[in-house]
Amino acid sequence: LLITNIRQLVNVREQTAVLRGSQLAQLPCIDNAYLIIEDDTVAGHGRMEDVPKGKFSSTHTFDAAGGSVLPAWCDSHTHTVFAASREEEFVYKIRGMSYADIAAKGGGILNSARKLNDAPEDLLFNQAWARLDELSKLGTGAIEIKSGYGLTVEGELKMLRVIKKLKERSGLSIKATFLGAHTYPQEYKSNHQGYIDSIIKDMLPVIAREKLADYIDVFCEEGFFSPEETALICKAGMAHGLKPKIHANQLHLSQGTQVGVKLGAISVDHLETMDEDAIQALAHSNTIGTLLPTAAFFLRMPFQPARALIDAGCAIALASDFNPGSSPSGNMNLVVAMSCIQMKMLPEEAINAATLNGAYAMELGQELGSITIGKKASLILTKPIPSLAYYPYAFGSNLIDKVMIKGEWL
Ligand code: NIG
Ligand code: FE
Repeated sequence: LLITNIRQLVNVREQTAVLRGSQLAQLPCIDNAYLIIEDDTVAGHGRMEDVPKGKFSSTHTFDAAGGSVLPAWCDSHTHTVFAASREEEFVYKIRGMSYADIAAKGGGILNSARKLNDAPEDLLFNQAWARLDELSKLGTGAIEIKSGYGLTVEGELKMLRVIKKLKERSGLSIKATFLGAHTYPQEYKSNHQGYIDSIIKDMLPVIAREKLADYIDVFCEEGFFSPEETALICKAGMAHGLKPKIHANQLHLSQGTQVGVKLGAISVDHLETMDEDAIQALAHSNTIGTLLPTAAFFLRMPFQPARALIDAGCAIALASDFNPGSSPSGNMNLVVAMSCIQMKMLPEEAINAATLNGAYAMELGQELGSITIGKKASLILTKPIPSLAYYPYAFGSNLIDKVMIKGEWL
């Protein structure tokens, strides 16, 4: 397939690596471009004056008519499998309760866990499938999905089996993360070791045997899992080949960032609450810091200190944290816009963080996240826009014309 008349072909790179610090502001583009796709793969590109003439029949040519082409979004942190929305808690928060107040009253994650344990597997699959369908139309081409609303052996395995089935059936690139350590179930409130033992002895061996997860995650946070508990659980996962991706520094200075860095985590995620020690630890590591601005927005928290992190030289990715409690939106277009508006990320930085670095935060950097010959053709074709900065600027408009996932238009 030859795509012609692309106003701007965005994030075009010969080879790629994770971007850190000032590299994030460099977003290589080709103006007035063509793009060639063979099967599911990017096979060529260049400027329209050099377009290969006569080689492509009209059925194999698509006129972008002045739209721009970006790599599809790579959303490296979501909880897309859940049984029910929680808009009643949204109203409690409007009335003045905090996230912690709601969690302490058995709401929050425990509320989702009760509903998930009651839900049949095929219902969970169908709901998640519909969510992925919506997200792909919003330009998401790759997504990480966590368990963590089971909190029982059966519930966690059920969630991970749903994610495995989504992987097998969806065109999207999907990674699965085991988040058994999302919170302590009620019956283990005063027996933390009992639940940790269940994670390590009852859940992890089955997950490893059935290859149900790529990563292990822990909610390292005051009132949830301590830094010591986080390290213990991650190490048990690592012994089964699961690399850590950690919920860190969301509500407090949890030490989650430092623990993640020490373990060689792929990413530490959230980072609303950072101090200099946490920033420096991240900057001097190969761990990616994944910022989740829509979660900060929805919980009315201060946004992540993106500028301080970038200036310190950190590798930053952006993700949606799509979940019913703290970010009931998986819209990566909104994530990118919010990052520019509220965290003062440049449009170039935000697009790199939501594409290439997001791909690396799922270890998909060699196949997705940029327009690179040999990578998968998962793309967003925009409506005609005057410049790239217009995309996050016009934050309320749907600027997507078409989405292509692995060579197929949706
Ligand atoms: O990433 N912070 C922990 N977990 C989720 C929220 C989970 C929930 O409230 O259901 C998050 O924000
Ligand atoms: Fe999360």
